[in-house]
Amino acid sequence: MVPMAEKINLSNAVLCALFALWSSGCDNPQSTLYPKGPAASKIAHMSWLMLILFLAITVFMWVLLSIAFIRRRGSLAEHAPVDVGGGHGWVLGGGLVLPLIVLCVLFVLGLRLMSAFPMHAGNHQQSNPEIEIIGHQWWWEVHYLGEPSQQFITANEIHIPVGRPVNIELRSGDVIHSFWVPTLHGKVDLVPGMPNFISVEASQPGTYRGTCAEYCGAQHAHMRLLVVAQGPEDYEAWIQGQLKPGAEPQTEAAKNGQQLFLSGPCASCHQVRGTLAGGSVAPNLTHFASRQMIAGNSYPNNEAYLEAWITHAQSLKPEAQMPDLTQFSGRQLRDIVAYLRQLQ
Ligand code: CUA
Repeated sequence: MVPMAEKINLSNAVLCALFALWSSGCDNPQSTLYPKGPAASKIAHMSWLMLILFLAITVFMWVLLSIAFIRRRGSLAEHAPVDVGGGHGWVLGGGLVLPLIVLCVLFVLGLRLMSAFPMHAGNHQQSNPEIEIIGHQWWWEVHYLGEPSQQFITANEIHIPVGRPVNIELRSGDVIHSFWVPTLHGKVDLVPGMPNFISVEASQPGTYRGTCAEYCGAQHAHMRLLVVAQGPEDYEAWIQGQLKPGAEPQTEAAKNGQQLFLSGPCASCHQVRGTLAGGSVAPNLTHFASRQMIAGNSYPNNEAYLEAWITHAQSLKPEAQMPDLTQFSGRQLRDIVAYLRQLQ
């Protein structure tokens, strides 16, 4: 017997969990059915059409099956000969004609939808990409293009201005990945040696979750991204912030952390603009603290996860390029984290 108090606690916990699921799910869920941009709206219409067709055909099929069951002649036990009688028409109509019509209609609509989103080289949209995204196992390298004085590199979190299309060039640094932010657009692959293009537009400010949608190795599931759509002023402020070099450490801990960062293994892979850390094989950390998540948007960007990531990356994300850095003392680790956390 479960005591009443525990029962109540248990049901409370379940309710809380459901509410958390529901409330988090409603804040821009990562779903095609909650479009937040013009391209995604077209795809959502198509998704609803397919869903409704699927349901209608399924219901129709179950009704026919039920009628056949109720009006069955003889039983299987008696091995009664099956007399399909006038059933050939149903078989041909339901098994051939109906699927043919439905699939042809969906095919034509699908072709029309695809032609509305040119994504290969040789169309006008690719002429001026504002952002270049390079897929890596298992993170997203993001280059903001434009005038040389306006260029910077970040990772995994892409900011765009709201209300206008942003042309993005998609490349891969290793294997095939796929860029997919369902609330904003369909998926487009990042193919080695073949740049693709996507034009992303968000119709309202918000943070939209995305993911790699093409299996790309052990940590494919930990290759996520965020698109943050901002009003013009917020976006401009973000750009200006990103253009600055990495923040100079102010506290003793952060200063010590910077020394450890620059003299240790971190600097050979990561870059912090304005310092001697110039590695380019791992995410650029110049404004690391401005990002919401770490490790390919897999874990929250806070002290606890950062310490865990630095010392046990291979447990959090096995086979990632980030090694387990266990050589630091507890104090040194906290200092490095203090340095990283002030890189706003
Ligand atoms: Cu990258 Cu899956």
